[in-house]
Amino acid sequence: SIRSVVLGCGGYLPEKVMTNAELSQLVETSDEWITQRTGIRQRHIAADGELTSDLGTRAARAALEAADLSADDIDLIVMATATPDNTFPASAVTVQQALGMNHGAAFDVQAVCSGFLFALTTADALIRSGQARRAVVIGAETFSRILDWEDRSTCVLFGDGAGAVVIEGESLPGWRSDRGVLSAHLRSDGRFKEKLFVDGGPSSTGTVGHLRMEGREVFKHAVGMVSDVIEDAFAATGFTAADIDWFVPHQANIRIIDATAKKLGIPIEKVIRTVDRHGNTSAASIPLALWEASTDGRIKRGDLLLLEAMGGGFTWGAVLLRW
Ligand code: ACO
Repeated sequence: SIRSVVLGCGGYLPEKVMTNAELSQLVETSDEWITQRTGIRQRHIAADGELTSDLGTRAARAALEAADLSADDIDLIVMATATPDNTFPASAVTVQQALGMNHGAAFDVQAVCSGFLFALTTADALIRSGQARRAVVIGAETFSRILDWEDRSTCVLFGDGAGAVVIEGESLPGWRSDRGVLSAHLRSDGRFKEKLFVDGGPSSTGTVGHLRMEGREVFKHAVGMVSDVIEDAFAATGFTAADIDWFVPHQANIRIIDATAKKLGIPIEKVIRTVDRHGNTSAASIPLALWEASTDGRIKRGDLLLLEAMGGGFTWGAVLLRW
């Protein structure tokens, strides 16, 4: 059998930073309210003309460089995004073109904030079935383009960015066979789709629409759903919270992150947190967190990582990964 091993990780954040103080000039809010309720202090905002595929391409290039590989060496691009450049084609093919790659396959995956875990699981499945050998898995978003900048209950929460990993199929038993994606668990439940959605789209309104969210409702479900799917991952592998070196949650809200870690019994020193500086970057948040914490030396080869996310749909999931 085959296992997908991470060879490199990259990320990209747009240059422009928007602080809570700047936001309080746009809507009736304050740094104190935003920081206390969410832990967010600032977020990055894509420049005019800077598209999701541009962010994704930069993150993909950085991940390939970290892996010491070029686009010639990969045969699959799976990009998670809920904010594609266009309704179609998939933004992943624009990334493919930008990388100068015209072999293999590229496509988008849509699971909103859980998108990176859905994309990683999809790429891992294609690798393990022998249909791909090496993949770039990207999470890239420009949520600033779908926010209602007059709605203070949502516009303060999100930011733009992209992260990516390169994964490669490793035959088992092999010299790296203790590493890679160990177990992946995905869930969704459409009964909750009106709790967090965009009120437009090609088949409904013919417009792009804006993000709408019942924040309290999302909050209420988040910790329980995520904990359940993590329990599934533990049950499938025999690992427990005590085995986890790094907890890498989707970065939506510091209170959700801390409550989940507490419920699982994972000490706060083992939690990777970027939400204070990035805001909620949806599908980009987990690969950005991986990029930051592997670049600054916290995440090391051989560390056991627990990734989790929950988002619109609802969708949610957990992945156990040996770095
Ligand atoms: N500044 C100041 N006041 C505000 C703001 C703001 N930016 N936004 C809302 N308020 C006000 C509300 O109007 C309300 O006032 P009222 O009591 O006079 O009506 C008051 O603050 C409380 O509002 P709530 O929405 O009840 O505040 P809550 O404590 O629930 O916090 C928040 C809101 C931060 C959105 C919280 O519910 C939350 O984090 N929910 C989860 C959202 C989330 O993480 N979503 C993403 C997950 S999925 C994904 O990543 C796509």
